[in-house]
Amino acid sequence: MDLNGNAVYELNKKDVLALRIKHVGSPTALYFRHDPLMIVKGEGQYLIDEKGNRYLDCINNVAHVGHSHPKVTEACNEQMSKLCTNSRYLHNTHVSLAERLANTFPNPLDVCFFMNSGSEANDLALTLAAAYSGGTDVITMDSAYHGHVRSCLEISPYKWRKPEDHKDYVHVVSAPDVYRGKYAGSENPGLDYANELNQKIEIMKDKNRKLSAFIMESLQSCGGQIIPPEGYMREAFRYVRAAGGLCIADEVQVGFGRVGSHYWAFQLQGPDVIPDIVTVGKPMGNGHPVSAVITTKEIADSLTNKLPSYFNTFGGNPVSCTIANTVMDIIENENLMENASSVGKYLLEKFELLKKKHKIIGDVRGVGLFIGVELVRDEKTKEPATEEAEVMYNRMRDRYILVSLDGPFNNVMKFKPPMCFTYDNADQLAEVLDDTLSQISC
Ligand SMILES: Cc1ncc(COP(=O)(O)O)c(C=O)c1O
Repeated sequence: MDLNGNAVYELNKKDVLALRIKHVGSPTALYFRHDPLMIVKGEGQYLIDEKGNRYLDCINNVAHVGHSHPKVTEACNEQMSKLCTNSRYLHNTHVSLAERLANTFPNPLDVCFFMNSGSEANDLALTLAAAYSGGTDVITMDSAYHGHVRSCLEISPYKWRKPEDHKDYVHVVSAPDVYRGKYAGSENPGLDYANELNQKIEIMKDKNRKLSAFIMESLQSCGGQIIPPEGYMREAFRYVRAAGGLCIADEVQVGFGRVGSHYWAFQLQGPDVIPDIVTVGKPMGNGHPVSAVITTKEIADSLTNKLPSYFNTFGGNPVSCTIANTVMDIIENENLMENASSVGKYLLEKFELLKKKHKIIGDVRGVGLFIGVELVRDEKTKEPATEEAEVMYNRMRDRYILVSLDGPFNNVMKFKPPMCFTYDNADQLAEVLDDTLSQISC
């Protein structure tokens, strides 16, 4: 039945699942494996299944301006009906997107490359850093995730399973987690974590290895919604540059105004904190595959000596660029950054109240519409409440609210909903979470 009670969805969930098991690679991720959801429609902050049930989507930061936003659909259709070709031809949508993106960044970040996914963006960022620095080694963060292509998997400890997954050229520093991490409770965790990074650089130098890049998510997401403490990026970037490396900020999850106060999450660390390369993706196309690397002219030019040319079949095509331009229009016209700030703050306050009520909530952290709630069995030992989190996640789904779990212990509830999330949605979420936690706690 559709929303009006008409039998339009003739899809049989059982058959879809059977075909998926038969013909889709088994490692392909699936939510709720015991009883997967079949989603047939998206609308704003809601996802609708084949029976017409509406789920409040608290996960999907890709549908940034809202699922199936009509202006994005219209812009896409219009451009697709005119032209969709590669960026070897001049096109106004290509350069206007480049100019527009560049205008959101501090100087000297004003040159863009376009591609189709966050993985591709990070892969190019690594190539650029190696070309410019002449270095080989990369510093990454514990629990980081930077993408599914091999170069990105090698710098993504989140995906490592065996000791040999950790390559010699990759050096891992602690995630700057002020709740559970190595320097939790320290007076100046930003400095402490940055000093640890510098120690890694010294060890690397002793081994005669040369640094190419330090890559970090401006706010770590798969690692459990980690907000770096004040001063961390400033100090870490200083050490990296002193060793001849470049600083890459991965904004694939958190960019385009999600943090509310700024367009880019690295800007939370202060106006003087400027990465050398920034990678962006997911929300950029509101579901359409488009991503970008933003860097300086000097760094971009350094690739000219290594590659005859940069060509990406789909990257920068007029349809993708039109869509990304439209997404940026909507962020502005619908005041979505202001919404992320105010609704995000309201939601954080609600979660803080729940923390007072439910001992199982060990920590609440976040900024804008990027929030994490960490569940623990004991507030002192911080023993992760992993099984409880799993139960909670399934029960929330039964109440038509979709959240996700992540972090090294899978005990952090992640909230990164479409940016049109409302105060009413926040009330509903907090109420259901309260109920669900009450059942789990007792
Ligand atoms: C921080 C971060 N970087 C990069 C990626 C890879 O992006 P994509 O899946 O578009 O290749 C992801 C995907 O989840 C991500 O979270």
